[in-house]
Amino acid sequence: MISSGQADDILKIQGGKTLSGQVTISGAKNSALALMAGTLLCSETCQLQNVPSLVDIRLMVQILSALGVKVTTNQDVVQFDASHLTSTEAPYEMVSKMRGSFFILGPLLTRMGEARVPMPGGCSIGTRPVDLHVRGLQALGAEVNIEHGVVHARAKNGKRLVGAQIYLDSPSVGATENIMMAATLAEGETIIDNAAQEPEIVDLAGLCNAMGAKIEGAGTSRIVIQGVEKLHEADYRVIPDRIETASFILAGAITRSSIIVDAINISHIKPILAKLKEIGIGYELESPTALRVIPAASYRGTDVETLPHPGFPTDVQSPFMSLLALADGNSVVTETLFENRFMHVAELTRMGADIKVKGNVAMIKGVSSLSGAPVIATDLRASAALVIAGLAADGETIVSGLHHMDRGYDRLEEKMRGLGADLIRLPGV
Ligand code: EPZ
Repeated sequence: MISSGQADDILKIQGGKTLSGQVTISGAKNSALALMAGTLLCSETCQLQNVPSLVDIRLMVQILSALGVKVTTNQDVVQFDASHLTSTEAPYEMVSKMRGSFFILGPLLTRMGEARVPMPGGCSIGTRPVDLHVRGLQALGAEVNIEHGVVHARAKNGKRLVGAQIYLDSPSVGATENIMMAATLAEGETIIDNAAQEPEIVDLAGLCNAMGAKIEGAGTSRIVIQGVEKLHEADYRVIPDRIETASFILAGAITRSSIIVDAINISHIKPILAKLKEIGIGYELESPTALRVIPAASYRGTDVETLPHPGFPTDVQSPFMSLLALADGNSVVTETLFENRFMHVAELTRMGADIKVKGNVAMIKGVSSLSGAPVIATDLRASAALVIAGLAADGETIVSGLHHMDRGYDRLEEKMRGLGADLIRLPGV
């Protein structure tokens, strides 16, 4: 019986099975959230295609609706009519549940001249400050103060923001997105130096330019935006989810299965493919948007350091660690983006992994096998790491804490079962 996806459900996995077949990857969660925020910039109706079906996406729809956006969803096609916004204040109870909603600050401020957005809560992986977002918007001429946990931003003299030269202390994805969106309707030119270069930034610039914005350099460390008066309707397709793509490739690698992942963008997963090659796991292109995993009976350990794009993505760190736990040799994983992103280590250790953590460094000694155990997902990407480990472990693994998984993976259990995984979702007891 597949339950209806309640938060306290569990996944029961019988490990050791070889997978086969093909899985179609959904649209990118971390792009779709930013693109949805970007529709606030538009005075007409926008349409997004390839929107994943996720808890976080449904939450973002609620937040936009509360601001007066008329949202209509038809499977993975979502229409947004932001022609008449009715509020500039995002509801606390919704924003506090999801950091990704903080991206509405920049577009709301530049479109309406004012925005009140609650501080996004920290989450299990770190404190998640927003100082770079705030300083960037202040540079664009906004008065920003934080009272009672709410960020209140106003364009000085209630008019348009003014373009500026901004240098980000660190290439923050969210700050780059908030500032870039705010600059699209500002007066004059904005330059963002040390900008994030993630594919999601390029996707967001693509939507804004489709709406008539003038953004150049997205995907490089210098983004230049010429402000315009208004943005018009657009119909735009969300890029494939590179993190989901990596998660399924790793599921094939750890179970030594030659599965195909389809509807992907190969250029977005280069760092992962390079690391897999280093340890002896290959791939072949089935088509420009489909890749077949070429597994290896045994593979080497290696060193991984998470870095801003085009470095190895922090969101793939925990699933990749599951693979390294069974390597024939030792590995060192260094997490440089977030201060607390090794919570999956304790759970992998319960399954027999040999991992020692010192600060932001995890030292892994490959073991010959993992054994199934009851484990708890502690954050979104850790849930994928535990499912992947469970696929390869001897015996039964029970994964709880699925509300994390449901935030960021579109029907993960259904897709894994489609590949032949012996995995079932049951109501929590
Ligand atoms: C985005 O978060 C993603 N979330 C994260 O994915 C991803 O891990 C992260 O980028 C890095 O790639 C969404 O896109 C919704 P950052 P974001 O700002 O924008 C520090 C997932 O699992 N920082 O690039 O919050 C921050 O503390 C999630 O899908 C500041 O110091 O990431 C962190 O150490 C997890 N001040 C580092 O920068 C700021 O103002 C990277 O954060 C902003 C960030």
